[in-house]
Amino acid sequence: MLANVFTALLAAYPLFSTAQSTNLAGKVGPLTSIAAKKAVKTCDITAYGGKAGSDIFAAITSAFAACKTGGVVVIPSGQYNLATWVSLSGGKAWALQLDGIITRTVTAGGNMIFIQHTTDFEMFSSTGEGAVQGLGYHLHKSGAPRLLRFYQVTHFSAHHFALVDAPAFQFSMDTCDSGEVYNMAIRGGYSGGLDGIDVWSTNMWIHDVMVTNKDECVTVNSPAKNILVENIYCSWSGGCGMGSFGTDTNVSDITYKNVYTVHSNNMLLIKSNGGSGTVSNAVFENFIGHANAYSLDIDQYWSSMDTIAGNGVQLNNIVISNWTGTEANGAQRGPIKIACADGAPCTGVDLEDFNMWTETGSSQWYSCRSAYTSKARPVPLYCLKGGSTYTSYAATTTTVKNAPAGYMARTMAADLTKHFGTTASIPVPALPTMYFPGMKPYSKVAGT
Ligand SMILES: *[C@@H]1O[C@H](CO)[C@@H](O)[C@H](O)[C@H]1NC(C)=O
Ligand SMILES: *[C@@H]1O[C@H](CO)[C@@H](O)[C@H](O)[C@H]1NC(C)=O
Repeated sequence: MLANVFTALLAAYPLFSTAQSTNLAGKVGPLTSIAAKKAVKTCDITAYGGKAGSDIFAAITSAFAACKTGGVVVIPSGQYNLATWVSLSGGKAWALQLDGIITRTVTAGGNMIFIQHTTDFEMFSSTGEGAVQGLGYHLHKSGAPRLLRFYQVTHFSAHHFALVDAPAFQFSMDTCDSGEVYNMAIRGGYSGGLDGIDVWSTNMWIHDVMVTNKDECVTVNSPAKNILVENIYCSWSGGCGMGSFGTDTNVSDITYKNVYTVHSNNMLLIKSNGGSGTVSNAVFENFIGHANAYSLDIDQYWSSMDTIAGNGVQLNNIVISNWTGTEANGAQRGPIKIACADGAPCTGVDLEDFNMWTETGSSQWYSCRSAYTSKARPVPLYCLKGGSTYTSYAATTTTVKNAPAGYMARTMAADLTKHFGTTASIPVPALPTMYFPGMKPYSKVAGT
């Protein structure tokens, strides 16, 4: 029956959705449909000794061994425990159908579920009710496990499940290629070190994702190329970010589009402190913010990391366009803070249609340091400098006393009035049906 629900969804919504942007370098997602994989083999963990209420490490491991060369490992709906972390390495054209909830029962570090060295892979819940529950509220310490990590996975997708209360990071994807992550809910405690999605990979489409935590929402690290992040709902979060960047940073062709951020540290933070290399060709468009501390925050003197040797990471061709909404207190933390490295001034930083206003008081500031807009545009623009001689300059701050026209922006019906703290268990959320005001998710949300 569950399989039928999913098959019906696939009929209504094609498996391989097409991104609207040119930022991707080709098709993302698995190469083989779930139906075709199931036709090869289905390995239900309950046929390999898995039982609700018990540790399913051995059952998942055996089911994977039987289905990894083409097939679907199924964890049916129900509550399961995990007492040894699963590392599923190799295989191809396989899938992991997570309809149940897997709960952490031990304190080992590492990754609860680690998928690596595989291709044509799909991890999904057919009901939208599958989840990994980390019960992080009684295990926030260094050396605590991540919930999910993908490493060297290509042509894959992850969708329709929830990651809840990680003791450390929730989901990281490194050195992956051609992946799609969508229709996901990530809910962590209100504490640092509980990143939502961290990605350093190539050709990735991450869309229709909700993150609640106190650290990174969806963050691109180095090296990365051709990443499209779209329809993102960051609430009571650190906000989306890029970095922290260090030596030989190599990031290009990144788009963040339709990002809705509330009660977070920032709407976008690009962070480094010293270091070298480049971040180029990045677009940040259609951002809405409410009640955040910082909004646009490019900080190449980021004080939460130690200074690294090097002149700084060079930012080039960075377009910030169509931002609306309000920040918590614009006189305290203005909505535009661009602090580029004096040793590697930013070039081609273009701010367009940036209309935000303060929720407290009657003024806000824009601040720029060593940042240049592209020559072709009218200058000065906000606080950026123009021209083609890129010398460093000290922070210049512009005070704004009138609300820009058109700053008002929508809110979301699902906005939380409070975060989840760190002392009580966080319930597994239902998948949202919307991740940005007025935008239908690209793929129908399972179970709706
Ligand atoms: C940056 O990464 C791209 C691949 O994404 C690679 O082709 C290029 O050589 C890298 N550049 C440097 C300077 O490492
Ligand atoms: C600007 O963003 C809003 C959402 O905040 C969107 O409705 C609108 O279409 C965008 N405008 C352009 C020109 O893309």
